Amino acid sequence: MKVAILGANGQLGADVAIAFRAQGDEVIALTHEDVEVSSLKSVKDCLESARPEIVINTAAFHNVERCEDEPQPAFTVNAIGARNVAQVTDALHCKLVHIGTDYVFDGMKPAPYVEEDQPRPLNAYGNSKLAGEYFVRCTNPRHFVVRVSGIYGTHACRAKAGFNFVEMMLKFAREREELRVVDDQRVTPTPTIEIAHQLTLLSKTDDYGIYHATSEGSCTWYEFACAIFDLTGAKVRLEKARPGDFPTKARRPQNSALENAALKARSLNVFTHWRTGLENYLSRRNKQYSNFPPQ
Ligand SMILES: NC(=O)c1ccc[n+]([C@@H]2O[C@H](COP(=O)([O-])OP(=O)(O)OC[C@H]3O[C@@H](n4cnc5c(N)ncnc54)[C@H](OP(=O)(O)O)[C@@H]3O)[C@@H](O)[C@H]2O)c1
Repeated sequence: MKVAILGANGQLGADVAIAFRAQGDEVIALTHEDVEVSSLKSVKDCLESARPEIVINTAAFHNVERCEDEPQPAFTVNAIGARNVAQVTDALHCKLVHIGTDYVFDGMKPAPYVEEDQPRPLNAYGNSKLAGEYFVRCTNPRHFVVRVSGIYGTHACRAKAGFNFVEMMLKFAREREELRVVDDQRVTPTPTIEIAHQLTLLSKTDDYGIYHATSEGSCTWYEFACAIFDLTGAKVRLEKARPGDFPTKARRPQNSALENAALKARSLNVFTHWRTGLENYLSRRNKQYSNFPPQ
């Protein structure tokens, strides 16, 4: 298959490109320099000449605090950009895999969210991403909206100064003696390499719709940090953050763990438990990328 990836030099996009190439697919790796998703003309020019059969859209404006301060560019990229990609892929009769987020939920559910649960975003980022989902769903019937959560990979996250949560914790452990991490947000940290593998399988089906695609289980950020330090032997005193330690403009859901109900119903789910995913990431990171993390 001919697969175009938007955001191909991003944290997720880079692993998606590797995964499709490994399957023998032809990959057209598109960066922000090649295409501006908020411009219909740019998306049209780029995809009409590439003529892909599948488009994976990982591009987003997703620094949550910046989105709260700058809702207009957030909606321009995450909602209008998603609509532009959906419109052009529909005209080209190609499949669209659109990457969504757990932040479409309000976090009030005491269990992991399934695909049918009612979204109710708490912040501008979540609202803009939800608007993007709706545009995709009503514009290109050959869509997969794939919601992910707490992603980390061996390629730098471009919107977060290169540091994913794991690398940020390891950096702090090198620099500090003690550290506080929030314990009131439950998530499902998920390695990008597993999402990329999942996308190669899902995108070859015609089972269009919304999918949750995260590791199994869930933890708070504090529990995730405990596991990172436990597995790496990092010597830092870790404590739970106290209320008000880290004031933020954007509200965040208390529980945004997702259940991969739709993938499991189709026997497509590839994800391991979040702790196994972390162990695998740490050993890959040490072997593969001698210059990681970014300085
Ligand atoms: N990171 C998380 O924890 C998380 C959690 C849930 C969902 N997600 C979703 O996962 C997806 C991928 O995240 P990531 O961590 O891989 O992000 P990333 O490393 O920041 O990569 C995003 C990519 O999109 C490109 N891009 C940004 N704005 C663009 C635009 N207007 N037009 C074209 N390309 C543009 C970026 O290029 P430049 O850097 O050159 O602008 C970059 O290549 C996003 O859709 C995000 O909403 C992420």
